[in-house]
Amino acid sequence: MVSRLSCANFNMPLDNLADNFIHCIYMDVVSHLKLNETPFRISPDPRFLFLSDQVREAIAKCEYMTRNRIGPLYIYGPIGSGKTSILRRLHETLRDDPEYRVSMLIAANIKTSNAFLRIIMEEFGVKTARAYDRSLRNFEEFLIEQYEAGIVPILLIDEAQNMGRDTLRLIHYLLNFETAKAKLLQIVLVGQEELASRILRYRELASRMFPIAINAMSPDELQRMIEFRWMVAGGTTPPLSPDAYEALFAFTKGLPRDAVKLCDEALRHIVANNHDVVSSADIEVTASSLNLTR
Ligand SMILES: Nc1ncnc2c1ncn2[C@@H]1O[C@H](COP(=O)(O)OP(=O)(O)O)[C@@H](O)[C@H]1O
Ligand SMILES: [Mg+2]
Repeated sequence: MVSRLSCANFNMPLDNLADNFIHCIYMDVVSHLKLNETPFRISPDPRFLFLSDQVREAIAKCEYMTRNRIGPLYIYGPIGSGKTSILRRLHETLRDDPEYRVSMLIAANIKTSNAFLRIIMEEFGVKTARAYDRSLRNFEEFLIEQYEAGIVPILLIDEAQNMGRDTLRLIHYLLNFETAKAKLLQIVLVGQEELASRILRYRELASRMFPIAINAMSPDELQRMIEFRWMVAGGTTPPLSPDAYEALFAFTKGLPRDAVKLCDEALRHIVANNHDVVSSADIEVTASSLNLTR
């Protein structure tokens, strides 16, 4: 095993030393397992997105509905089930296409429709006015111009479970911008399960929007997701025993974020202990260090 501190410079400040130390542990795992990069980072990197049936269907549905200006959608599901990853993939696919004008924002701490409208307009590069009504008119004019130029503006909003009645009312209002044939603005809201109950309580909005539920993965999907990520990182077969996969599912209930976190920790654990394969016992020990329970 490569000495963990061999690449740290002892003259550097403490913060840098800590960064360097973490970097060295990663390097250890990556080189020990003969990979090009770490397979289990929890950032939603679209390259590592495994297209399970539900992920593939969700992306296809969003693309179809937005491309054809059919309808506003909302995607909801548990924390760590892959919603933001889906949204990023969609953003990546549409943003390079000149027929679309895509804006993605996070709905945290935006309390009023006024503040929210300003943020949306800034995202699209539209001038705001002092008066709310005037801003709305500017935005509508912009949407009509885009329509006439054959461009589809798309608004992607993550963490939409944070949206209150006032900001949802703005969404409802924006959905009324339409011609006889098509909606002028395409909207995809993404959030935790609470988003669905909020929309369902707001009946006029619910009747206009199409829901997509994202669920935890099945044991088979979870294993294929791990195998896929391993291959993206430059490996062939991940070093997990069959019972390690079973334990992985039991501790994560099929939620990809927890599974990625657990695998990342388990790899460091086996490298530090000089094991070649992750066993169910390694998963047990690691899960307990992460406070995950069966
Ligand atoms: N389909 C998937 N394939 C590969 N990794 C995934 C998948 N879904 C989720 N992940 C992993 O789980 C993490 C959490 O996913 P994220 O999209 O942030 O979940 P959510 O937004 O539902 O809380 C991602 O950063 C990614 O590492
Ligand atoms: Mg998210």
